[in-house]
Amino acid sequence: MQVSVIGCGYLGAVHAASMAKLGHTVVGIDVDAAKVALLSSGTAPFYEPGLPELLAEVQATGRLAFSTDMSVAAGSAVHFLCVGTPQQHGEFRADLTYVEDAFAALLPHVRPGDLVVGKSTVPVGTAESLAARLAGTGATLVWNPEFLREGFAVQDTLHPDRLVYGLPTDDEGVPTEDGARAQKILDEVYAEPLADDTPLVVTDYATAQLVKVAANSFLATKISFINAMAELCEATGADVTRLADAIGYDDRIGRRFLNAGLGFGGGCLPKDIRAFMARAGELGVDQALSFLREVDAINMRRRVRMVDLAREVCGGSIVGARIAVLGAAFKPDSDDIRDSPALSVAAQMQLQGAHVVVTDPQAVPNARKAWAGLAFAATAEEAVTGADVVLLATEWSEYRALDPETIGDLVAHRRILDGRNVLDPRRWRAAGWTYRALGRP
Ligand code: UDX
Repeated sequence: MQVSVIGCGYLGAVHAASMAKLGHTVVGIDVDAAKVALLSSGTAPFYEPGLPELLAEVQATGRLAFSTDMSVAAGSAVHFLCVGTPQQHGEFRADLTYVEDAFAALLPHVRPGDLVVGKSTVPVGTAESLAARLAGTGATLVWNPEFLREGFAVQDTLHPDRLVYGLPTDDEGVPTEDGARAQKILDEVYAEPLADDTPLVVTDYATAQLVKVAANSFLATKISFINAMAELCEATGADVTRLADAIGYDDRIGRRFLNAGLGFGGGCLPKDIRAFMARAGELGVDQALSFLREVDAINMRRRVRMVDLAREVCGGSIVGARIAVLGAAFKPDSDDIRDSPALSVAAQMQLQGAHVVVTDPQAVPNARKAWAGLAFAATAEEAVTGADVVLLATEWSEYRALDPETIGDLVAHRRILDGRNVLDPRRWRAAGWTYRALGRP
């Protein structure tokens, strides 16, 4: 099938390459000429495990091209909208500028029978208004949310845990004739994952749009729940990691996403819960989501608490203290620093008078651009040299594997803050380190 993918960021670039891998002929379109040039040369414009190999593999087949020119979308049967929907400056609402611009640019190129497939995370109601604007073109709009996790994006796209199609439906919620035809086309696009028994939920536009924000709100709530328990643990001397293990054995609860620590960041969870609250307000049901305010507040409190912990281990003040921050990305296996808890804490400590040195296996170039005031080091060893405190802020496997003796020889004081609860406190204490963590004695 001929497919266009509009927007080649963390979502679109992986989606484009994955669609080519599934056998389709794909053109990825982006307004960013530098990004298009990189992708055209087979280079991933960001760090995502497996993407460089996938790009090389599919580009060799000749089925994947990239362009800045929207007119190349003409001729594709399916057009995926994969642009970002960041938080609006100074507001909770989502900024739909990129969706609007991409859709408007695509509109002149769609032909009767085409599908326009929204994958971006949008406020519920967006699909309905885009569908209305497609009326008269003979093309059909589908909402097909994407659930990929950064760091696992290739795997998640090629082997999704579910597919959701939001189709045009009649008053009884049954797909219209156009909807049924759209489903057939999408089934062809996703023939391979469907053949692997990937669960498929076919529904209306509103449900499909809500699924994505509901899923992310649930995940954020789960993380903030365990971080709230961490606060209780701190007040009582209990250990949140053992608590999580114990409640996680109940398979109604489950252990995943119960890792207490610095909390969630990134380009999705924080802005999605905020946009969801804003949209609920517009719909007159803000009370239904008022708990998400608390989820957000718990999450942000963890960052403040970590700065307090640094102060505590330094004997009351971090002014002039040299603090090594291991990790800048919002999570391991990514170079994405959007709303990164690691950088947020690093910047706070720096503002409060500490001398902060940040390192990360992949995210230093992005971090340096965004936080010019911070100092950066190429390696953990360099960052911790002479440090009064070491903060493990992003749980890259190489930081989890650090040897307390080896790096103990480099630091000025053996004080470690485990921001992700991934180190063995006994091992670090046995090596003479002061070990502190969020929610652990
Ligand atoms: C998320 C959703 O998981 C994904 O389905 C959706 O498509 C996009 O948003 P992503 O932003 O890549 O994916 O990251 P995710 O793995 O969900 O982690 C989000 C944040 O939560 C990270 O900062 C991570 O460190 C933090 N986290 C995660 C915790 O603090 N504790 C946990 O137990 C799990």
